[in-house]
Amino acid sequence: DRSIKIAPSILSADFADFGREIRAIEAQGADWVHVDVMDGHFVPNLTFGPPAVKAFRPHVKTFMDVHLMISPVDPYIEAYAEAGADMITAHVEAGPHIHRTLQAIRATGCKAGVALNPGTPASAIEHVLDLADMVLVMTVNPGFGGQKFIDLTEKVRRVRAMIGDRPVHIQIDGGVTPETAPLVAAAGADVLVAGSAVFKGGSVENPAPYGDNIRAI
Ligand code: DX5
Ligand code: ZN
Repeated sequence: DRSIKIAPSILSADFADFGREIRAIEAQGADWVHVDVMDGHFVPNLTFGPPAVKAFRPHVKTFMDVHLMISPVDPYIEAYAEAGADMITAHVEAGPHIHRTLQAIRATGCKAGVALNPGTPASAIEHVLDLADMVLVMTVNPGFGGQKFIDLTEKVRRVRAMIGDRPVHIQIDGGVTPETAPLVAAAGADVLVAGSAVFKGGSVENPAPYGDNIRAI
C-alpha cells in the first residue's frame, strides 16, 4: 500500500518563530515541511522570499518542500534552489512554459513538482509527467490557510491514472483534516499538506500538541 506522508504547511505556524515551529513539527512526526511562497501577484497574499527560506533551511532535517505561488516563476528558481529547497513546485498556471520550468527546476538538482489550481483540468499536466516528481492538486483556491476543502477526489483519481507506474507523488494541498484526508488518500494521494489542522491551538505560551494533530490526519 502507499504510505501517506504528512507535510505541515508553515503558513499556519507562528510567524515570529519559524525555527521553533519547524523543530516542533519535525520532532512530533512531520515527514516534510511545506513552505508556501506567495508573491501578492499570482495569489492575493505575500509571504517569504529566498532569504527567509535560507534561514529555515538549517532547522529542516526532513525535506523542504517549497510551493511557489508566484508568477513569473522562472526568474526565481535558482534563488530558491540556492536557499536550500529539496523540492520546488511551480504552478502550471504561472506562465506559458511549464515544460521549460520543470526542466529548469531539475537542472538545479531539486525535485520538481507541478501544481494545479482547483479549476485547472488534470489534462494540463498530461505532457510533463516525465519531468515531474510530484503533482500538487490544490483543494482550495491558493493564498490562505484555513479554507474549506474543495472535493476534487475525481480529479485526484484521474491524475493517479495518468501517472500510471511512474514514480510520481500526488500531493493534496488545502483543507486537509482528519475528515477529508481519507477521501483523497483513497483516490491515490500519498502526500498530504496540512496547515491549520496541524498548527491549530498553538501559542507561544503553550505550544500545541502538534503530534496529536499530525497523527489524527
Ligand atoms: C494555500 C497553501 C496551502 C495552505 C494549506 O495557498 O498552498 O499549503 O497553507 O493550509 P490549510 O491546511 O489550513 O488549508
Ligand atoms: Zn501549499
